[in-house]
Amino acid sequence: MKKMVILISGNGSNLQSILEACESRRIKGSVSAVFSNKANAYGLSRARAAGVPTHVLSVSDFSDRESFDLQLIKMIEAYTPDLVVLAGYMLILSSAFVSHYQDRLLNIHPSLLPKYPGLHTHRQALKNGDTEHGTSVHFVTNKLDEGPIVFQAKVPIFPSDDEKAIAVRVKHQEHAIYPLVLSWFIEGRLTMREGKAWLDNKLLPPQGYARK
Ligand code: GRF
Repeated sequence: MKKMVILISGNGSNLQSILEACESRRIKGSVSAVFSNKANAYGLSRARAAGVPTHVLSVSDFSDRESFDLQLIKMIEAYTPDLVVLAGYMLILSSAFVSHYQDRLLNIHPSLLPKYPGLHTHRQALKNGDTEHGTSVHFVTNKLDEGPIVFQAKVPIFPSDDEKAIAVRVKHQEHAIYPLVLSWFIEGRLTMREGKAWLDNKLLPPQGYARK
């Protein structure tokens, strides 16, 4: 059975959706371990409740980010994962980390990339008067929130919305699309080759999968 290691920093609602998808066999793989850079991340409790080993690694215990990431790689490697999944992991990864997990590192970002990389995406969408927003699952490369997009889900923004309302709507979509994309990878249907994302050996378009 293929194995995933998941990196979080906070609430872990996406982690929860992945754990549940494994439990119900929508993802035919398992979560071997959850790592957090924050000891108080609620996602750690979710992992423990599911019987998944957890580890906390604090940046402040290391002299620099490179040595932090090297230790993280070392600890992750103990689980020999097929896939490393970023699920609300709030640290920017070193190029050593990204290279080590090249082609098997996925992230979910709460915007319709390439729009709004980085932080406060909902705030920016509101400020700009957008009527549409969303979330993107993508392979990770060395450029922040770039890397080939696998799947996007769109949500409307209504005039009465605040950031919180948008975040709830976006997360609802995230909990549906992230497990689906992970299931594709676990089944060998989704790959990254030559810096591009492929599904069933078909090159995915720039905005990711779209049902025809
Ligand atoms: C999600 O919105 C995800 O897109 C972003 O961080 C958030 C994590 O939420 N990368 P949670 O911790 O999974 O609830």
